[in-house]
Amino acid sequence: MNIFLDNKNTTTLKVFRGTDSNINDFNFFEVPFNDGASILDALNWIRENIDESLAFRYSCINANACKECMVLVNGKTKYSCTTRLSKETTTIEPLSNKRLIRDLVSDIVPPKEKL
Ligand code: FES
Repeated sequence: MNIFLDNKNTTTLKVFRGTDSNINDFNFFEVPFNDGASILDALNWIRENIDESLAFRYSCINANACKECMVLVNGKTKYSCTTRLSKETTTIEPLSNKRLIRDLVSDIVPPKEKL
């Protein structure tokens, strides 16, 4: 999906979608670019303005306490709430070492805490 905005100050996120990590299914979203905005800000903007079905997880928002927002940003594990948006196209994927649930949500519950 490509969404084009009137706003000239935009950037593009390439976001993994689906429930099968073996299938490379990505959506491209053009989002507003603002200095200081985070990847999480952009994901929330996508969900509010383009696709409410986009699945991602967060809890504390910038407190860097919950660790629930971890995703791969250009292949590196990052907190989406503290990673700044770039003017370059950025690839966002779920954690590769966890069981994928859907889109950017992976199973991060430690094995000993599962019922
Ligand atoms: S939202 Fe809690 S660490 Fe990012």
